[in-house]
Amino acid sequence: MSLAKLDSIKDAALAAFKAAPSSKDLYDLKVQYLGKSGSLTEIMKEMATLPKEEKPLFGKRVNEVKQILETAYSEAENALKNAEISSKMAAEELDMTLPAFTRPKGTQHPAAIVVDEIFTIMSRLGYSLRTGPVIEKDYYNFEALNIPADHPAREMQDTFFIDKTHVLRTHTSPIQIHSLENEELPLRVIGTGPVFRCDSDISHLPNFHQIEALCVDEKVSMADLKGTISFFVREFFGAGLKTRFRPSFFPFTEPSAEVDCSCPICKGKGCSLCKHTGWIEIGGCGLVNPKVFQAAKIEYPKWQGFAFGFGVERMAIIKYGIEDIRLFPENDVRFLRQFVK
Ligand code: DAH
Repeated sequence: MSLAKLDSIKDAALAAFKAAPSSKDLYDLKVQYLGKSGSLTEIMKEMATLPKEEKPLFGKRVNEVKQILETAYSEAENALKNAEISSKMAAEELDMTLPAFTRPKGTQHPAAIVVDEIFTIMSRLGYSLRTGPVIEKDYYNFEALNIPADHPAREMQDTFFIDKTHVLRTHTSPIQIHSLENEELPLRVIGTGPVFRCDSDISHLPNFHQIEALCVDEKVSMADLKGTISFFVREFFGAGLKTRFRPSFFPFTEPSAEVDCSCPICKGKGCSLCKHTGWIEIGGCGLVNPKVFQAAKIEYPKWQGFAFGFGVERMAIIKYGIEDIRLFPENDVRFLRQFVK
């Protein structure tokens, strides 16, 4: 009687294990049949009621059934786990046909575009590019350019001092001195890079860029300077823009002039960008002052030269009709995107 009951428990358990829909249900079935108060444990209790000679056979059979059920349980458990993993994988399958994330494409900053364009034009006249240090010795930024200490000319450029003898360069003109000291003559160089001044408003930035040209040869005149600048301005802005030269003063040039372009916003009528003059100043120029040659130990008048230095952002403002110079360092992508080539 008990052996038959044992068999029916075994059959019921085997069928239930097979049919269990999930690992959790299977585990509950294991508790139900093989647990501490499960059917198999219960039936063991019946052993006490059996005649003595039947007990060994019944005990053996209980152990066999226990083995069979444990094996069946782990087989069913494995099958369910595999099925669960497969369905999880199928549900989470990667769709390789989805479009990839696109990274926004970078573009050159308008100031860098302008420098590139200027250099391309000037390289056609035989100029090569120099950059020079941004933290500059007072000597190169001022002294060697005929701006002695305590001279009022220093006030033209509000300066960030690093220490007593070093400054954040206030202009690219010191690049001229490095070239005069280190390069062979005759010489045609373009110097460019960031410059710094303690100055900030709608048309002035504390950190902006300049582009500088220096030409040294045996016979150089104001006519060469005007011819070079006029060519350069026409190439850069196109023929529609007017330029003018105004007599001016720079300690490192003699004679000196300032270069203006007609305002692209109001076309010369007068607006806030050009301060109602119709003209925008782009920089200074002149013939290299003999004192600069003297500082660089270059024989004058055997060697003569001209130089000019323009503001890069100013040139971009004029070329692209930008109304506020402060847009340049802000790096607002809506502004920068307009210059994607
Ligand atoms: N360095 C001058 C400035 O920043 C600009 C300049 C004027 C540069 C005359 C020159 C020059 O090379 O010849 O104000």
